[in-house]
Amino acid sequence: MSLFHIPLHSTVIASMNHQDACLESGSSTPEAELCVEFPIMEPLYPQKKKAYNKPPIYAETMDQYETSYKLVRVKDTWNCVHADDVSVDEQNRVSESLISQRLAPDNNGLSWSIEAPIRFSYNITECTNLLDPSNDVLIYGHLTTPEEVAAAKANPKKRRLVVMDETVSDIYGDKVEQYFRLNGFECTIFALETTEETKNTESMLKIAEAINKFHPERRSEPIIAIGGGVCLDMVGLAATLFRRRTPYIRVPTTLLSLVDASVGAKTGVNFCECKNKLGAYVPPVAVYLDRSFLITVSRRHLSNGMGEILKMALMKHRELFELLETHGQYLLDTQFQDDSPSLSNDGSHNNVAVKVVRLAIQTMIEELAPNLWEDDLDRLVDFGHLVSPALEMKVLPALYHGEAVNIDMAYMCVVAYELGRLSLSQLKRILSCMQALELPIYHPYCDSELVKSALQTRFKHSGGKMRAPIPVGLGEAEIFNDIPTEVLERAEITWRQLSASYVQEKRKLSR
Ligand SMILES: NC(=O)c1ccc[n+]([C@@H]2O[C@H](COP(=O)([O-])OP(=O)(O)OC[C@H]3O[C@@H](n4cnc5c(N)ncnc54)[C@H](O)[C@@H]3O)[C@@H](O)[C@H]2O)c1
Ligand SMILES: [Zn+2]
Repeated sequence: MSLFHIPLHSTVIASMNHQDACLESGSSTPEAELCVEFPIMEPLYPQKKKAYNKPPIYAETMDQYETSYKLVRVKDTWNCVHADDVSVDEQNRVSESLISQRLAPDNNGLSWSIEAPIRFSYNITECTNLLDPSNDVLIYGHLTTPEEVAAAKANPKKRRLVVMDETVSDIYGDKVEQYFRLNGFECTIFALETTEETKNTESMLKIAEAINKFHPERRSEPIIAIGGGVCLDMVGLAATLFRRRTPYIRVPTTLLSLVDASVGAKTGVNFCECKNKLGAYVPPVAVYLDRSFLITVSRRHLSNGMGEILKMALMKHRELFELLETHGQYLLDTQFQDDSPSLSNDGSHNNVAVKVVRLAIQTMIEELAPNLWEDDLDRLVDFGHLVSPALEMKVLPALYHGEAVNIDMAYMCVVAYELGRLSLSQLKRILSCMQALELPIYHPYCDSELVKSALQTRFKHSGGKMRAPIPVGLGEAEIFNDIPTEVLERAEITWRQLSASYVQEKRKLSR
């Protein structure tokens, strides 16, 4: 048998076999004998080469072409195997993928269907001290087994590329650099402006170039993104495109990115004046949520993040809505930090920040996990995202993402009221809560023309249906496909009137 038959990547199997060989031969210098003992490699492959029934390439009758095959790995080679032919000892080498074959509809050729389930798994983990050098979760936390961690620790090459939002880098760059240095890692920080206006292919390609320059070892050096939703979305896309999928880690630093942009699979950039028109569904290998970053976030950006939390509350969690209603101002004042005597509170808030963030994440992943690639077009998480993308892009940079979402939600709540699915008192409670969260509830550019064109886009991309998530009570929602134009128009008038009264009310209060 020649050396060329050694399966080079099967080192574990080879060394196990070699151990057996050494035991048998009584040798104490196993390494030296690896090649000498090579003939004993044979038992490594107990699978006998078996004559599998292959799918027919030519068949006598049409129905003989119609077959489904499983895939079994034998000696590094995948084989199509008829489902009935897979033996018990082969079960652990059977792929989850399936190939079926049939005659093409015009009977002039074969047609193959491939069913290949792709599995993603990633952890979203709360941390309180992510950049404390004694906590190595940012370095090794994405690894899943103790063996992987041991191998990573033993790897002499210790470096990471960290892509950061420029503002975040100004505030936390030194801390990040120190964190890695004290952990014996060389850290390359690539900082760039990441705003909605610069969320484009140019910025994303700059990130891709930085990745290329860093030249990561794909499996062991995940790219770390630290910043708001724009930064995370762009790094996610650049990493996904780089060598077709380079692992990346998300560290959100704004409220919006902490509860929303970091927890799902979506990445993207704005393109051709359309929000997130270029993107991919590839989740990170890990997400670390550390609320201490929020201390430096502006009040308006905190309020902006509240928009996405309120979305989940209105769609499916009444208790979350009531927490926002009661503690919204307190959460803004205390910047989502834990209760503490220095924050001069009376203890009545009961660490509401932890509860609100957890409920926001839980409700969000409950909706995202079963539909990571958004195959199912009926999505409650789309609430507030029907008209807002067009509005946000139209008035850029006047409205932040969560603010545009909130304006959309306010309008849709009035639609729900006009449909008779929300009472006036429920509608008023929602609008008051939005105001308490310091979110805008109306924008003059969000007129019937914009709504009509946004809904047309929605029809086009949602299989010809509106699929509008609408609240039908506090913390309950349904998807609507048929909202009469008169209702939409009536809602616009009611919305304008109600909003005007809220603005007047607010002015009175602030006097
Ligand atoms: N991928 C998704 O599923 C998803 C979901 C929701 C939103 N998004 C996207 O997220 C983006 C909005 O994210 P965002 O609201 O975080 O905006 P952002 O990324 O623009 O950040 C907002 C501002 O806060 C600054 N900043 C960030 N962290 C800070 C910190 N800790 N201290 C001080 N300043 C800080 C940034 O410099 C920026 O100026 C949108 O582009 C939206 O499309 C994506
Ligand atoms: Zn959003």
